[in-house]
Amino acid sequence: MLRQKIESGLLPQWVLSDPDMYELELEKIFGRTWQFLAHESELPEPGCFVTRWIVNDPVLVTKTKSGEIKAFLNSCTHRGTHLCAADYGKQKSFTCPYHGWTFNLEGKLIGVALGDKVYGEEMKKEEWDLRPIPKIGVYQGMIFGNLDPNAMPLEDYLGNMKWYFDILLARSDGGMEVKGVPQRWVVQANWKVTSENFEADPYHVQMTHRSAKELGIAPKDPFFPGYGHQVVLENGHGINVITADATGRSPFPFQGMPESMWPMFERNLTSEQLELMRNAIVFVGGVFPNLGFISFSAPPLEGETNIYNYLNFRVWRPLGPDKVEVWSWFMIDKAAPEEYKEKSYLSYLGTFGPSGILEQDDAEIWARIAQASGGLMARDKELSYNNVLNYLMGLDRVEPDETFPGPGVAYPICFLDAVSRNMHKYWLELLIKDHSIAEGVYR
Ligand code: FES
Ligand code: FE
Repeated sequence: MLRQKIESGLLPQWVLSDPDMYELELEKIFGRTWQFLAHESELPEPGCFVTRWIVNDPVLVTKTKSGEIKAFLNSCTHRGTHLCAADYGKQKSFTCPYHGWTFNLEGKLIGVALGDKVYGEEMKKEEWDLRPIPKIGVYQGMIFGNLDPNAMPLEDYLGNMKWYFDILLARSDGGMEVKGVPQRWVVQANWKVTSENFEADPYHVQMTHRSAKELGIAPKDPFFPGYGHQVVLENGHGINVITADATGRSPFPFQGMPESMWPMFERNLTSEQLELMRNAIVFVGGVFPNLGFISFSAPPLEGETNIYNYLNFRVWRPLGPDKVEVWSWFMIDKAAPEEYKEKSYLSYLGTFGPSGILEQDDAEIWARIAQASGGLMARDKELSYNNVLNYLMGLDRVEPDETFPGPGVAYPICFLDAVSRNMHKYWLELLIKDHSIAEGVYR
């Protein structure tokens, strides 16, 4: 039934609130896909660490003495409490707060409190090392983990998203850096709604964020941000390359970044990537299932005339069928002038930070979707109330634009449900995939 509905551009509303569906998603989707953990700039030196989550699995990410990135289940092998309770820091080893076992940055058990006296010399310490996250992978400084030891390599999973990541993450010498720590807040929402909002839904901007248009933070044109291209990528990923208007030329090239940086972009990008970077005013998209990103430009303060770009990555960490913890990273080019970085940070705070004008607009709407999806009528699985949500925009009406310079299937409009439909298809594919038999074989 789900497949039939999804193929016709519909999604039954009960999947947004059903507890059994949520449990299945935890196992089949979050237990199997690559999950973003940290950016390398958060671990600048040996000994640096951050603590993160892959949904319900606490993760300790470390940089070892030799500079290698490691990730472990942040749970002591003695009795299981969090080994490290801090968000981030720098140290040579971790001593458990419960009974004092100590592990090094490589995850080795190196000290047992009163060890020989209480366990005897025969205790084999090497059997009690931290449990590594089954797979980790890094692309352009983005560190991902995967709980599935048989998962495809990160680069295969990202697929053509890498081409767009190169624009966002590798345009500058030295790459990007995270400033501060990721901000976190909890919203009442289903993770599919938040993921889709970033990856696939520029259409909501004209209404939800109307006040931003009225204030001049976004172009007043009612069709904005429908201009540009919505690009469908493999494995449920997608991106919207948004232009200011139908001409496709940006009124502020390179998202308002200083002219002094332009020759660097020319050096680091291909001519096709450079063209998109010069002309797009927003890149907004997602890596399935729950990593969203936006490269956005806004004036940081009242009265400011300059435009300040920033890159925001966010993980929508599910806490239940109707709850998401948002993890939001601010990133900027390491090579940008310091003053620009400061202004760019203000620009982020005022727009997509937890108190940003655009962020608050969305959070309100998402909560109301969660509320409305939890009642008896919306939860009816027989669909006796026509309980389907509408993803029909552009279905069988909009043809791909073969002249678009980037990879993927690019449609010449951003007010479109093509990426949403692609997300739903991949979501269902993962849900029905039987992992108990050979990889790649479907029930
Ligand atoms: Fe960590 Fe006992 S739980 S030392
Ligand atoms: Fe929004």
